[in-house]
Amino acid sequence: MQTIPEPTAIQRASMQAVVKRFREIGYTYEACAKRLGVDPFFGIPFNTLRRPDWVPDPKHGTDLLISLFINGNSIPLSEADPFFSASDLDDLAKMALIEISDTTIHSNLSLFPCFNHYIVTDTIQIHPHFNQAMWLFAGSFIFGTVIDHLLSCKTRERALDLCTGAGIHALIASRHCREVIGIDNNPRAVAFANFNKAFNAIDNVEFLVGDVYKPAEGPFDAILSHPPYIPDAGSQSGSNFWSGGATGNEIVQRIIADLPVHLKDPGICLIFSIFPDLNSHSAQPYFDQWLSGHSTRFDILDNSTRMPGIQNTPYVEKSPGCRETVFRGGIFALRQSQQTGVYETNALPASQACYHIFAPDGSIASNHEMDRLTAWVMTR
Ligand SMILES: C[S@@+](CC[C@H](N)C(=O)[O-])C[C@H]1O[C@@H](n2cnc3c(N)ncnc32)[C@H](O)[C@@H]1O
Repeated sequence: MQTIPEPTAIQRASMQAVVKRFREIGYTYEACAKRLGVDPFFGIPFNTLRRPDWVPDPKHGTDLLISLFINGNSIPLSEADPFFSASDLDDLAKMALIEISDTTIHSNLSLFPCFNHYIVTDTIQIHPHFNQAMWLFAGSFIFGTVIDHLLSCKTRERALDLCTGAGIHALIASRHCREVIGIDNNPRAVAFANFNKAFNAIDNVEFLVGDVYKPAEGPFDAILSHPPYIPDAGSQSGSNFWSGGATGNEIVQRIIADLPVHLKDPGICLIFSIFPDLNSHSAQPYFDQWLSGHSTRFDILDNSTRMPGIQNTPYVEKSPGCRETVFRGGIFALRQSQQTGVYETNALPASQACYHIFAPDGSIASNHEMDRLTAWVMTR
């Protein structure tokens, strides 16, 4: 079965020269949003569905790289020539970031400029023959923006990023923490994460293949996760980047249930997830059940909001009994309680959903909910 080669690290100096070239060309998050003519809201400018009419200008380097690395187009070599030397192209090919033919270059991977890093993932298409490293969808950008903000307000010693994928959140955390461990059960995702670590010249992160917490030696004073959470009756949790099993909760449940063993006090756990089939206005019943016997040890701030339509994801087989109208999703913050465990909701207006935590330029908004989350997290 044909797979697509994983990216391969080459000499650090050569990789840094390529990164420098990307920056000189203007392949940055902000520049991409500007060229695409959209607000830089959590990665949405990268999704072609949001910009079906966009036509790249071949003379513009940013457009060329969006076209090559996000849209997956082949580029005539003559269009790349003004921007890259022969040795740049050679290095990109050695890293498996491009393939060069007589007249064109093409990439089988995606390469995002984001959070001041460059992150390589598999492409947006579902690859049926191998377990792919997830493309960066909105959830990765939402969670990345929030953890970058919250960890910058209070730095941490040791952070753990569970279900790390191509490593984006572990790499963001590495700016604010002395040491970071990222775990994913997909060896391909971990290979991408290791490449991204090397490509961005980051040294204080270690990526491990493992099942949820398995290889990690805790405890940690920050536990982060953007796990798989889509309810999919057609695939087992752990077999791809999206499935949380038929209930959608299988992985999230295991993360929460073992928190008492792995989270230090003081310490903070931040999870971006979606909870299907809820009857109440919060996810409290789930947390009570999963933390059985320990729920009084944790305070929880539920920043979730209604998220309709989640189960309309095209490749997902609807799980019987799941009612899409009662999905809630967002960021859940947990800390060891000083008293007897309090579950609070940080009610976001349903009409504004996750957008509420962002200013129009994509930065963190300054509003009541965001201030409350920040203050809450900083107490531990
Ligand atoms: C929704 S993706 C998120 C990836 C990354 N955190 C991001 O936001 O870009 C979920 C990730 O969890 C991984 N995963 C699934 N089951 C797992 C398990 N049992 N233990 C560890 N990782 C798992 C998948 O391979 C996938 O990379």
